[in-house]
Amino acid sequence: MRISVIGCGYLGAVHASAMAELGHDVIGIDVDARKIAALQAGRPPFYEPGLPEILKSATASGRLRFSTDIADAAGAEVHFVAVGTPQAADTSAADISYVDAAFRGLLPHLAEGSLIVGKSTVPVGTAARLAALLAAAAPQASLAWNPEFLREGFAVKDTLEPDRLVYGVSADDDGRAASVLDHVYRAAIEAGTPRIVTDYATSELVKAAANAFLATKISFINAMSEIADVTGADVTALADAIGHDVRIGRRFLNAGVGFGGGCLPKDIRAFTARAEELGRGDAVAFLKEVDTINLRQRQRVVDLAVAALGGSVHRKKIAVLGVTFKPESDDVRDSPALDVAVLLKGLGADVVATDPQGVENARERHPQLEYATAARDALAGAELVVLVTEWREYRSLDPADVGRLVASRRIIDGRNVLDPSVWRAAGWEYRGLGRP
Ligand SMILES: NC(=O)c1ccc[n+]([C@@H]2O[C@H](COP(=O)([O-])OP(=O)(O)OC[C@H]3O[C@@H](n4cnc5c(N)ncnc54)[C@H](O)[C@@H]3O)[C@@H](O)[C@H]2O)c1
Repeated sequence: MRISVIGCGYLGAVHASAMAELGHDVIGIDVDARKIAALQAGRPPFYEPGLPEILKSATASGRLRFSTDIADAAGAEVHFVAVGTPQAADTSAADISYVDAAFRGLLPHLAEGSLIVGKSTVPVGTAARLAALLAAAAPQASLAWNPEFLREGFAVKDTLEPDRLVYGVSADDDGRAASVLDHVYRAAIEAGTPRIVTDYATSELVKAAANAFLATKISFINAMSEIADVTGADVTALADAIGHDVRIGRRFLNAGVGFGGGCLPKDIRAFTARAEELGRGDAVAFLKEVDTINLRQRQRVVDLAVAALGGSVHRKKIAVLGVTFKPESDDVRDSPALDVAVLLKGLGADVVATDPQGVENARERHPQLEYATAARDALAGAELVVLVTEWREYRSLDPADVGRLVASRRIIDGRNVLDPSVWRAAGWEYRGLGRP
């Protein structure tokens, strides 16, 4: 099929490349000329495992092109809208002005029978509003909402092999939208991927609900870890034990510095704001507590650092391992790891932060911090090591080896991924969250 993807960020660039990989003829559009120039040259503008390979093969095949001109989307049968919906500057609601702009930009270029497919995460009610606009301005086209569930770090696989497909379609749709999307996702459909065809509101809410649930699960275990701290209990054993209950499950039950990134935090805030607009703020008021618990974990790690250094971090060299919000990504949006580095710096510590992929993005946001691209440089002479992003490289650090680099063997495991007994046996003072 001829496909356009409007917005080529973490979601759109992967989606465009994956659609071309599936054999479709794809044009990716973005207003950011630098991003488009990189993509056009076959270079991903961000780190995502597997993306360089499919981007290169798809651009070389001629099935994938990029442009900054929305007019180049004309002629596509399906237009995916994958622009950003960040938190608004002055409220906790989502800023959907980019979605509106992309939509308005598309209107003059919609062919007869074409389908606009929303992928961006939007407040419930957005699709119905845009569908009404479309009916008035370009009745030859129609709208579906197809929320995206990819995980950064696994985005290529998640796009090519999604665990479910959700299509939100208009009440008067005769099955055409679903059949077009089935064609787009034929490989996944043939592989037996569950597919749910529903109304607009449900499709929008599925995404909000999924993120709200995941965020709640993480904050739940972090709340348990706070109780573990004051009782001498071990939250990792607790998570293992409750995780064996299939109704609970062990995944997303790792206590630590909490969630971040360009989705979960802003999505639960936007959900709360939308529910308040709808007069049902009380139904999801608990998400404010989820957010509060999450943000408290960052301060908790800082408090542990202060305690580990005897009450003050002032002028102490601290190696911060990790700045991205999760491993296998260079994304530092709302990153707990980067926040911890900034908070420690604010307390006067000599912070040296390191990350396998995120240093450049972190430096752009927080140039006041000192960075090292190699972990060894950050560790050299440190009086405290703080692990805040669980990159494999940090999880597999050898305590004896690291011990020879640092000035003092003190470590805070902000992700509870190290084996305390191994580190203690190597002479380290180890502190985790909710671990005795
Ligand atoms: N990143 C993820 O893991 C993920 C997963 C699921 C859903 N989402 C959702 O997908 C959407 C995009 O997220 P992202 O992480 O890719 O954001 P992003 O900031 O990386 O990318 C958004 C892109 O849209 C472009 N853009 C803005 N206005 C435009 C316009 N009018 N025309 C063309 N391009 C325009 C920006 O230049 C940017 O490149 C958000 O709604 C997000 O919540 C993201």
